[in-house]
Amino acid sequence: MGFHLQKTLVLVGLMGAGKTAIGTILAQELGVPFVDSDDEIVKAANMSIAEIFERDGEAFFREKETLVIERLLTGRPMVLSTGGGAFMQARNQQMIAERGVAVWLNADLEILWERVKGKTTRPLLMGKDAKQVLAGLYETRNPEYAKALVHVESQRNQSKGVMVERVIKAL
Ligand code: S3P
Repeated sequence: MGFHLQKTLVLVGLMGAGKTAIGTILAQELGVPFVDSDDEIVKAANMSIAEIFERDGEAFFREKETLVIERLLTGRPMVLSTGGGAFMQARNQQMIAERGVAVWLNADLEILWERVKGKTTRPLLMGKDAKQVLAGLYETRNPEYAKALVHVESQRNQSKGVMVERVIKAL
């Protein structure tokens, strides 16, 4: 590819934005490791995200999330996918701005909803009012995600490969 990544690309954005799906291909294209902060937390705790939220609470999960991001940002450049809430914390935003490049993957609310509905891995979307919850997060979180250095919007039916190319072009 000839593209030499200098800093870790930190993918941020709402649940369903494609952080894991796009991030996996992006890392392959760039020849760097792909790491998902949720996966790291799950591995260390030996529990699912839902179990961690239920047993230890969201605040505990957020502490672990910050520690994982901090640790990974001190290593070699990689593509790091973060959970949708990670970029809401000022401390995480600051760390990412200092040591990495934040990339916001965005999509219309309807597209996000189609991708996450019916899935049972996300504790924030487990209730009957999941769509309203997602809509609320879309409103409150987008101004924060907008602080990311790079913005890439996915359209309906757009292939992952096209998204990956758009991220690389935006760097
Ligand atoms: C969360 C998003 C999830 C996961 C946790 C909380 C959030 O990650 O970290 O369920 O606050 O938006 P994904 O965005 O990868 O689904």
